[in-house]
Order: sequence, then structure tokens, then C-alpha cells
Amino acid sequence: MPASPFPVTDSSRYSFVPGSSPAPTIIGGEGCFLHTADGRRILDGAAGAIVGNIGWGRTEVTEAAAAVMSNGYVVPLWPTPSRLALHDELVQHWLPEGFGHVFFTSGGSESTDSSLRLARAYQVGKGRPDRWKIIGRHPSYHGMTTGTMAVASHDGRQRGYEPLLLPFPKVSWNDPEEVLRVIEREDPATIAGFIVEPITGAAGACLTASDHYWQVVSDACREHDILLIADEVMTGYGRTGLKFGHQHFPLHPDVIVGGKGLGGGYLPLGAVAARDEVAEVLRTNGFMYFTFTGNDASCAVGAKVLEILRREHLVERAASQGALLGARLQAELGQHPAVIEVRGRGMFYGLELKCSKDSVVAAALEHDLWVYPAGSGPVRDAIIVAPPFTISDAEIDQLVGTLRTVLDLVHPD
Ligand SMILES: Cc1ncc(COP(=O)(O)O)c(C=O)c1O
Repeated sequence: MPASPFPVTDSSRYSFVPGSSPAPTIIGGEGCFLHTADGRRILDGAAGAIVGNIGWGRTEVTEAAAAVMSNGYVVPLWPTPSRLALHDELVQHWLPEGFGHVFFTSGGSESTDSSLRLARAYQVGKGRPDRWKIIGRHPSYHGMTTGTMAVASHDGRQRGYEPLLLPFPKVSWNDPEEVLRVIEREDPATIAGFIVEPITGAAGACLTASDHYWQVVSDACREHDILLIADEVMTGYGRTGLKFGHQHFPLHPDVIVGGKGLGGGYLPLGAVAARDEVAEVLRTNGFMYFTFTGNDASCAVGAKVLEILRREHLVERAASQGALLGARLQAELGQHPAVIEVRGRGMFYGLELKCSKDSVVAAALEHDLWVYPAGSGPVRDAIIVAPPFTISDAEIDQLVGTLRTVLDLVHPD
């Protein structure tokens, strides 16, 4: 593990918000472990923030970034070899047929926010300026811009910002009749898009709607030319055991949004891909980019991460090794008194809890295990377990065993 070029110093000044609890200073990572300045090895049971799909310490990735970083900044309108490589990798090997257009960003929120703007631009481009609403779901999370907060439903992260947030209509995560009712009530002639997480992440901890629900959503969007946006920031790029989460269901998006695992956690990167017919509509008015759209080093990282996923068959591994993880979580913790439900697929599991998620996350960290806090609305407390796809059998044992110890401690009866 390469040493940091910077010294380890007192970390107490690091918190942006005063009074946050102290956290370990991380000096590096290897495989599924994070190394702390005081010599601990933390099992990364959530791949950071569900980003480290290929695990840590991949020098191949850092070399790809280093090779282009000294070239300097290139305006997003101009291609570079890294931008082209990532674009081609995505179009040729990852995106469904007919998705030949990709817009790069620096992460999940920028991507989902761009997808809302895209839905609006598409409708205006089609001569329908009255269409501005985007339907979202309860519960859901799409990022921390004011636009993405408005379209999502995550009470903890939205609280207090309400006057800033547009009153976008919401439907529940699993009621197909309600979807039809809300579309009628709002009037399809005012609706630009419908954004969904194929499997709910931070807000719902792996809630999965029925096939019937997805069929109804897809059919209704097609009937009314409402742009159907799959927010695959968490579920994309292999996390659920297929390339994209929506591919498990009769869910047929017009736009696919990615972030997190696309850059493997090595550099900030997101991407919005659109069906060709959708992108075609933008031809007249264009689509303004961000200053760091297509950052060269980020694109080099993304292209390399995706190449590694394919070369090492890691999406298939997320399915097979993920099935093992899911079976172990279910067997060891499914009946635990602290657990309401274990759910999920691939390398992506939610444990809905009867006790406080914060105490479970804190106790896990004391036991050198990192799991991700989740939950909102109907899912009050939950954690997400989503390690790198490379996790071994022994590491799965360690993860599940530690979680059992932690839940026994936090919820002893
Ligand atoms: C489904 C989903 N969309 C969007 C985002 C926002 O991504 P970011 O935090 O990279 O801005 C997240 C982050 O957790 C997410 O899970």
C-alpha cells in the first residue's frame, strides 16, 4: 500500500459540522479493508458509500489516472482519448441497445439533477413547455441538490429545506394503482418525467417492487411520453448481479443515471445515458455541461474500472458471491430479534432494524466493520451491506459474524 505524501496530524479539526463524532483517519485500503492511522484494519462492508465495486488498492486504476492528469484541463466539448474510451466502453459493453449518447458528470447528484433537466429539455424540445413535473417515489433518495431533494422522499435529508423544494408529485414504492391515479390527477400533459430507483438505496434499504408495478410504470410512461429515468447510481455497474438493476424487472427506462461504482470510488464520476430518440430532441437547444463534465482523469478511471469488471467477470461474481452473502445474512440474522427483514440481491442487501441504525453503525465500527446507515419514512432504521464484489468466503464469514456480535450487543433480548 503506497504511503500518503502527507503527514498524519490531529484530526479533530476535520468536521465541517461542529460536534460530529470522531472518525478514524484512513491512510489507505487494500481489497476489502481500510487501514487506519492507528493500525486498525476495517472490513469495508459497504464498499465505502457503495462505490468500491472492484475493491481498494488497484494500482492499475491509479496509473490510468496519473497517465493523463498532467495533460491539464480540456473543455468538455472536445474529445480526449480517455473520454472516448469511456464513452465506447459504456456504449459497446454496458448500456442497453439504443443508448448511444452519454453525458458525463462528477457524481450521482449531478447526474440525477441533470436527468431532471434532461426530461424538461426533452419535453420543451418536443414543443410541450407545460410539462415540468417529475414524479418521484416514497421513499427514495436521488442526491443533495435542491432539485434532486425535491423529487425524492428522504425525510432525514430533506427536513428543514422545504420552502426551497418544488412540490413534485410522489407515488409509493409499490402501489401500481396509485401510480395510475397520480398520473391522471396531475394531468399527463404537465408531467415531464418519472424517476425511480430500481431497488431503493439509502432511503429504503433494498426495497424491491413487484414486476407488475414496474410493468405499470413502464407502460404508463410510454403511453404518455413521460421520460422514465432509472436512477442506477447505487444499483448500476454490477452491484445487483446484472449490469443494471432495472434489468431484473420489466422496467424499461429512457434515461439511465450512474455514479458511485462507475468510478469505483477512485475519482468522482457520473454519467447520464439516454436513448437515441431522446438525445436527438436535444439537438436544437443543446445541453449545457458542467466545468468538470468529462474530467479526463475521471474518465480514464471509469474506463479502467469497467474494463477490470469485465476482465475479472466481477458482475457475475457479484451475482454468485452475492448469493452466498445473502444466504449467510438470511441464515444468521434473518430471525435475529433486532432484525425486521433481510432483503436484496447481488452484492446489495438491506437489513431493516428494530433498533437505532446509528448505534448499529457505531458499534460495528468499534468492531472494525463498516456498514452503511439507511432508512426513511416507512423504513425507520436500516443498514446496507454492500461490500466490494471481490469479497472472499472468509471475509463474508467475518462480516456476518461481526454483524451478529454487534446486533447481540445493541439489542440483547
Ligand atoms: C440512488 C442514488 N441517487 C443519487 C445519489 C447521489 O449521489 P452522490 O452522493 O454521488 O451525489 C445517491 C447517493 O447515495 C443514490 O444512492
